[in-house]
Amino acid sequence: MIDIHCHIIPAIDDGSKDLASSIGQLLAMDAGGITHAFLTSHYLKGHYEYSREEYMKKLEELQQALKAKGAKLKLIPGFEVFLSPTILEDVKEKNLTLGDSKYVLIETELNGLYHDFEHYTFDLLRAGYKPILAHAERYVSVMRKPSKVRDLIERNVYIQVNTGSLVGQYGEKVRQTAWILLDNGWAHLLGSDDHVRGPYTSYFEAVEKIKHRIDKRTAQLLSREHALMVLADEEIPYKYVHVERPHHHRSRSKSFWRWLFG
Ligand SMILES: [Fe+2]
Repeated sequence: MIDIHCHIIPAIDDGSKDLASSIGQLLAMDAGGITHAFLTSHYLKGHYEYSREEYMKKLEELQQALKAKGAKLKLIPGFEVFLSPTILEDVKEKNLTLGDSKYVLIETELNGLYHDFEHYTFDLLRAGYKPILAHAERYVSVMRKPSKVRDLIERNVYIQVNTGSLVGQYGEKVRQTAWILLDNGWAHLLGSDDHVRGPYTSYFEAVEKIKHRIDKRTAQLLSREHALMVLADEEIPYKYVHVERPHHHRSRSKSFWRWLFG
């Protein structure tokens, strides 16, 4: 399994407070079967100021500590970039992508998605970047109308869902919205968005729930295969489910086969 979104670099944003807590969390991730983690610290001008050198030094320190403990978990650099009028210059200049890819994890105000969103993401798209919207299910406009996410996918934006949302950590409305996205094939990647404020559990619970509620193949795509495509900078298919209402379709096709073969 691969976690594409977490705040585990210590003392750099609102995530992990210190090195020891970070190492503890990474060891728990390794023990549970996470093989790669993108350590996506916030990039938000004026709020979190740190240099790329400082970030890389801390990442390497964590990787060494893991190695010394016999953990195989691989740490990949990455950022969660807050949309702003200078986003394209910042991403270009500071290389704020996921690993060596053209994928960029983006976020904006949770209640302001449709105000400025398309303008800035289109700048990124035109420059050849592949934006991934972080925790799409937590935006008020998406909660009101989840099918808005389908329009974003039509416009070449990838969708990441938080595992905590799927297990109810952000409340019932967010939980329901997250499942609507998954049920319809409107989510490409899973992330814990872990800030090291408690045990690392939601990722594993969510993957089990996806296996039971949808199927193993979807769990595999969302928890591993699509993230491997990010690592390799290959193109994730925007549409990987070609059925919009799985339950409706399934019951209809079943009766068709029953009709055909008795
Ligand atoms: Fe985050």
